[in-house]
Amino acid sequence: MDYEWPPFMVFLAATMELPSLYAMLDPLARVNVMAYREGEQLNWHFDRSEYTTTLLLQAPQEGGEFIYRSNLRSERDPNYDGVAKLLRGEDPEAKSLKLSAGTLNVFKGKNTAHCTSPVKGPRERIIAVFSYYPRPGVRFTREEQMGFYGRAV
Ligand SMILES: [Fe+2]
Repeated sequence: MDYEWPPFMVFLAATMELPSLYAMLDPLARVNVMAYREGEQLNWHFDRSEYTTTLLLQAPQEGGEFIYRSNLRSERDPNYDGVAKLLRGEDPEAKSLKLSAGTLNVFKGKNTAHCTSPVKGPRERIIAVFSYYPRPGVRFTREEQMGFYGRAV
């Protein structure tokens, strides 16, 4: 599959009930592949893009679950109390998913808090993250590139 394969973007747009989605122009942000080694994890966060698409390339032997809490905040309500409750581990709405290699995960990362649990065992958790936007031509600024990637192109 190619990042700019049109049927994939049509599929994702339909999944997210959007008229269309476009590939980013940003050479750094459009596709990222990350590997998490034993003991590593991704801490709780929201994404800056409305929607996030990931493809798990390799599952770890244990751990590395995707943990999420849907609709924790909205454009109008940052719900700081709810975020604090989640971070204290006291939100019963938090869910955990053990993904297998090949799983395509599409979620509303902007208002869905998410993290991963620590990887256990010698096999890395390797995940590809695809970024698409509802308008064409999106690029990070030079400052954003530096902040995310430590370099600008
Ligand atoms: Fe994220």
